[in-house]
This record gives sequence, structure tokens and C-alpha cells, in this order.
Amino acid sequence: MYQVIARKYRPQTFAELIGQEHVKTTLENAIAQRRIAHGYIFSGQRGTGKTTVARIMARCLNCIQGPTANPCGVCASCLETASGGAPDVIEIDAASNRGINEMRELRENVRYRPARDRYKVFIVDEAHQITSEAFNALLKTLEEPPEWVVFILCTTESHKIPATIVSRCQQFSFRSVDFAQLVERMQWIAAQEGITADAETFSVLAQAGEGSVRDSLSALDQAIACCGTELKAVEVRNLLGMFSLDSLGAVAGALVAGDSKAMLDVVADLEANGRSLQHFSRELSRYFRNLLVVKISGGVTKLVAASPPEQEALGNVAAQFSEEDLTRHLRLTLDLFRDLQSSLQPRLHLELGLLRLVHAGRLQSIEEAIAGIGGAPAPPKPIPPTRSAPAAAADVSTRSRLHAALLDEKQTYVADALEHSELTESATELIVTTPKLYAMNFKHGDFTAVVHRVVGRPVKVTIKVGETERVPTPAAAPKADEVAARALEHPEVKRFQELFPDSQVRTVRNLKDA
Ligand SMILES: Nc1ncnc2c1ncn2[C@@H]1O[C@H](COP(=O)(O)OP(=O)(O)O)[C@@H](O)[C@H]1O
Ligand SMILES: [Mg+2]
Ligand SMILES: [Zn+2]
Repeated sequence: MYQVIARKYRPQTFAELIGQEHVKTTLENAIAQRRIAHGYIFSGQRGTGKTTVARIMARCLNCIQGPTANPCGVCASCLETASGGAPDVIEIDAASNRGINEMRELRENVRYRPARDRYKVFIVDEAHQITSEAFNALLKTLEEPPEWVVFILCTTESHKIPATIVSRCQQFSFRSVDFAQLVERMQWIAAQEGITADAETFSVLAQAGEGSVRDSLSALDQAIACCGTELKAVEVRNLLGMFSLDSLGAVAGALVAGDSKAMLDVVADLEANGRSLQHFSRELSRYFRNLLVVKISGGVTKLVAASPPEQEALGNVAAQFSEEDLTRHLRLTLDLFRDLQSSLQPRLHLELGLLRLVHAGRLQSIEEAIAGIGGAPAPPKPIPPTRSAPAAAADVSTRSRLHAALLDEKQTYVADALEHSELTESATELIVTTPKLYAMNFKHGDFTAVVHRVVGRPVKVTIKVGETERVPTPAAAPKADEVAARALEHPEVKRFQELFPDSQVRTVRNLKDA
């Protein structure tokens, strides 16, 4: 009879188990020191060894040579525990009807001594599904446990186990197994089975399991059933609906280039090859997740299920994006994946989603630019002198540039005073005639230095007190074109125009008129 690989290669000893070192060591020590608890909770992702360890534990406790961390493997108890037929190892699936009944009879059952072996070991699968009635029975038992009883509660959702139970158990969390260890394990199993495969195939299979050993082994089974004894990464990838780094990289490439057309080509390719668009979107979000993690860790990391060469390739792609970009792309691809689940028009959704990615990349630069404008000012640039300009124009230009420069340096008092002053400019001197009210303002900050910078040479600066034409009433607002000229000279407006050369200033509104 054909036995699936996951079952056939279920570890029978702690030594065969991969990963879960912390669980292994703690349990081995406990057994060696004969400190056996009456209740254990094994929690964690499916297919990571909870049931396997529970059975190994039962063997350790009941082996004829035991209790021992190294069960003999040949006594009746060891053999029967492995095949699920040991009289004193009771496996209960709490999610099934039968399990519910068994849990109901629990309090009766625990009272009787083991039929043959040292301990009565209850392995309860899906323990979070135990009914509240059964939890009560369990609690009573754990409060006053007969010496021969050991409960092992296995669950993927330990938070659903009542605190009263948890506090009477030792809890172990099972982690998803390391990529490298999983690959090694599969290589070994493949060798046992006479299967040959390239290194990339194991990488694909390990990724397919998403951290579950069982799922990876099932994928291996599926690959063998479909492709025979010689496995090739391309075929296995197709079989499992997975995508190569290259095909996912096409999206990253189009993003870097801001190339919408290339994005549409990606979708067209997928359709032409009959690939599942839903799968693609899922893989794409995982791809961006991996890029982000590789970027953040800055080197080969266990957090990414990929071989070192694959991680290097990911790193090269990630280098072309900022962490913020990748975070945004991950979010957008997750949204896309979610949308595609229920979409009646997956192609349109995928196209839309991918184009959004391109646009988000572009928007990012605008956001950065705006943040830059509001933030640290750019280094001052020399402003060309206005020697040859006609007098009146020179006044407008110098005034507005001075005004802008003063605002730029946060010398608002001086800028304010300047608005109410008259400027007389010659080749060697700038005379500022200002009403008495504003004269003091020129003492704030260093007006002369600003003037030198703006006119581009060390002219003499004279402040004269006197009534000027500009001042009589506050209503004598500057003329509209002067306001416009000043606005255009404003450093933040100028910087925006440098960043976006195609931008236009359509209108200038004087907020003081509003
Ligand atoms: N840590 C592990 N080391 C080796 N094989 C494992 C491991 N975890 C799971 N497996 C494989 O996956 C199969 C299912 O594991 P199981 O212990 O039933 O998972 P769980 O109870 O956590 O869902 C096992 O038969 C074994 O082949
Ligand atoms: Mg299990
Ligand atoms: Zn034994």
C-alpha cells in the first residue's frame, strides 16, 4: 500500500525531528529528571511536529526501557504507539463528534490505571475545539490528576484554551521550520525514495509549504506523482502554481522604470500561459514582503524562505527601492490579492492593481519632493546681479527677492518692514526709506548680509527713517503683478519649479486681499 511521504517519514525519535530545538531539549531534560507534568500544551502552526512530538513523548514515557528520552523502538509499546494502536495512548480529535463523546467520558476513563504501560497518555488534537463541558471535566482532572495520567493538548489556536487550563499545563510553542533544515530533510527523503531533483526544486517545495513541514512533504508527493522520479524546478513550480523570481522580478523592473506598458505585458504573459492570476497576486505580495525583509536585514536572513543565491538576487532588486517604497508596494499588493479573491474580472483587477503600483511609485517622488520643500531649505544659490535692469524693474525684482530671502531665513519682522519701505538702488548703495513705525524692525536679524547675498555684491545699506508713498494707508496694497512677481521669486515656489520643470504657476492670489 502506498503511504504518503509525510506519514512514512514521521520522526519516531527526537533525533529525527527537525527544528523545535527548544521543545526537544526541555522535554528530554524533563524525562531524564523524571519531572513529568500532567498537562502539556503544544501550540503552533500546523504541520510543524505537534502530533509527532506528542507520540514521541508517549513512547519515551511508555517504552519498556523507559521512561527514557531514547525509546528502544522495538518493544510492543514503542511499535504500537508508532502505528497508533497502543492501548494506553489515547488520541482524541476534539473537533469530531466521536472526540466530543470521548471527552465526555474522560473523567471516568482517567480513573482506571493504564491497561499495560506506565502512563495513560491522552493526545488531544484541535484542543481549542473542546466543548466547555469537556474543558470543565479536563480542569477537574488536572486539579487532582491520577499519577498515571498525562494530557498533551495540541492546538493551532492556543489563545482559545481557557486560562484555567493553561495555568495547569506546560506550554510549548512550535515554530515554523527553518528553510535550510527543511530543504536538507527533503533532500534526504528524496534520496531514500530514489528521487533526483535539482537544488531549486527543493527550494520551490520548501517555499510551497509556507513553514509547514507536512505541506512541503505533500507538495513533494504531488510532484513525484506528476513528474516522476526526476524533478525539475520549472515543472514543479508550474504544478504548484508558483512563480519564479524572474517572473516576479518583471514587476519590480517595470516599477523601477515606471513603465506602465511593461506592467500590462506581465498580465498579458500570464494570461497567454494560462497562469492563475490569483496565485500570481499572492506570490507577488510574498515577493514584496521578501524584498522588504531582505532590505531591512541587509543580508541573508532566516526570515525569508529562500536559498542564499535567491536571497542575493532579492537583495539586488531590493537595493533599487527604499524601505518606504517596498512597504507601500507590499500594502498595495496585499490589497490587490484581497480584491482578486472575489473578483469576477481578475484580469482587469490585476491590471489596475499593477498600474496603481507604477503610479504609487511616481506619487512617492512628489511626496518626497513636497516633504523636502517644507523641510530643510536647499543651500543658498547665488542670485545673479541685476545691474543692467531698468530702475523701476530693478526695484520690483530686488524688493521681491529680498523679501523672499528674508522669509526664507525666517526674518519675518524685517520682511514685513520691507513691504512698507521704499528702495532706492544704485550700483554701490541700497537706500531703504522706512516709516518710523518699522525702523526698529531692521534691527532684527542681519539685513545687510541678506542684501549682499541677494544683489550679489557688497553694496552699502542705508536705512532712512521717513514717510514714504507706500505707507499712507494699509489699504495701499502692492499691485497684483508685483505680488505675482514676488510669489514667483519665493524660494519654495522656485524649488518646486526646479523639481517639477513642467509645472506652471496659473494664478497668484494675495491672501491679504481675501
Ligand atoms: N519538526 C518536524 N520534523 C520532521 N518532520 C516533521 C516535523 N513536523 C512535521 N513533520 C512532518 O509532517 C508530518 C505532520 O506533522 P504533525 O506532527 O502531524 O504536525 P502537526 O501536528 O503540528 O500539525 C509528520 O508526519 C512529519 O512527516
Ligand atoms: Mg497534528
Ligand atoms: Zn520501547
